[in-house]
Amino acid sequence: MSGWVVGGPAVADDGEIREVAGAALVRAGGRWFAVDDECSHADCPFSVDGEVDGTTLICNCHGSEFDLESGAVLLGPADRPLRRRAVRVRAGVVEVETGGDGPPGPRP
Ligand code: FES
Repeated sequence: MSGWVVGGPAVADDGEIREVAGAALVRAGGRWFAVDDECSHADCPFSVDGEVDGTTLICNCHGSEFDLESGAVLLGPADRPLRRRAVRVRAGVVEVETGGDGPPGPRP
């Protein structure tokens, strides 16, 4: 079953990563994305060890890189994609869907 969890104000600088109900809510390229907040290599949390370059999410634990648009691995050692979460913006607040495999969030 899925639902929506408030992720805070919809205003943020590119590169910001927030932990929201087990998801990493990421501001990148002027858009919002959300993926599970565990690197698929060895579970490092992106909200602690993550970095953003364009729409690439980098795990600084061992250097894996992921495409935020698709969740795909761009650079190992990770060999599994990230599970994406849907994102929506309502009344100036960004929300993350719990559960599911949603598309990248809207451009507010
Ligand atoms: S835990 Fe992320 S690259 Fe190893």
